[in-house]
Amino acid sequence: MVSDSEKPSKNPSNDSGVIFSGMRPRGLLHLGNYLGALQNWVELQNDYRCIYCVVDIHAHTTVETPSEIAEIQPNIEVMVLDWLAAGIDPEKSIVFVQSQVPEVMTLNTLLGMVTPLGWLMRVPTFKDKVRQMNETEESVNYGLVGYPVLQTADIILYKADTVPVGQDQVPHIELAREIVRRFNNRFGETFPEPQAKLTEEPLIVGLDGQQKMSKTLDNHVELAATPEETTKRVLTAFTDPQRVRRNIPGRPSVCNVYSLHQIFSPKEEVAAVYEECTTAQRGCVDCKRHLADSINRYLEPLRERRREFQQRPGYVREVLEHGANQAREIARETIQEVYQKMGLS
Ligand code: TRP
Ligand code: SF4
Repeated sequence: MVSDSEKPSKNPSNDSGVIFSGMRPRGLLHLGNYLGALQNWVELQNDYRCIYCVVDIHAHTTVETPSEIAEIQPNIEVMVLDWLAAGIDPEKSIVFVQSQVPEVMTLNTLLGMVTPLGWLMRVPTFKDKVRQMNETEESVNYGLVGYPVLQTADIILYKADTVPVGQDQVPHIELAREIVRRFNNRFGETFPEPQAKLTEEPLIVGLDGQQKMSKTLDNHVELAATPEETTKRVLTAFTDPQRVRRNIPGRPSVCNVYSLHQIFSPKEEVAAVYEECTTAQRGCVDCKRHLADSINRYLEPLRERRREFQQRPGYVREVLEHGANQAREIARETIQEVYQKMGLS
């Protein structure tokens, strides 16, 4: 028996560090989002003060058409429902929407004064986005150039020191550190230098065998899908391309269904898949059905919680309102301090 005093504290104090992370409003999340980020966020709640934010202002850097804009708002609540279902606990963590704490825009503007344009133009994600959007560095919106400045403001407004992100975000966190260093140098020690905390989970492969599960590639399994929908989708998965007939032995090492089994199926089942596949005793359709069963079993507790929360009208909205109030309180204090340091008050 573990006594209460030995359990991790339910409300960890700031001594153990402050975590901040953000996600754009993406709507329904999939297994890749869960294993790549969300699961990690949930675990961190036991050891840190965590602040999780839906970055809806960032969404506007790349969203332009009326239909894309109309999706932002509904996507927020749908995504936060997935967060809560996954185990993000609003009693432990602050969960809020970026635009509901306008102080972040104040800090964004002020940080702009210590950020050389050259730093921003050199960020690899900026160059990628310009190319993707078929724009030039001249035609692209100013908000996109400043994306990492706003991201820095997100983090340091709460004096967060640890930022769980994927590898692609590392340049942004590096930039955040440089902005903080400059700010502290010019105006006096104010913010901790944030550190990236890389998610260890390997990228989860898509059903089509692509290296990454993604909504854009439409090779994903939604967390909130029904078991039937899940099975139907998993049955469309690609397998070992050389295994054109049932009596040809398969190669689990090149089969994405097998890599997914390794994540979602119990050890004995994984061993059985390997054995029966390589000896042509197991057919791919059967193998995929088993995988779907494993995924459904894995997601059932999450889906059950999601159903519960969904039955409470206004619950997500309440959570976000409460979160924004908590966040705003911290944000106001920081802005006050920044104003003083910068001679603005
Ligand atoms: N740029 C991040 C992404 O695209 C989202 C983000 C915005 C973020 N602000 C943040 C992540 C602050 C971590 C911390 O995934
Ligand atoms: Fe892949 Fe399973 Fe078919 Fe083997 S039996 S090729 S592991 S789907």
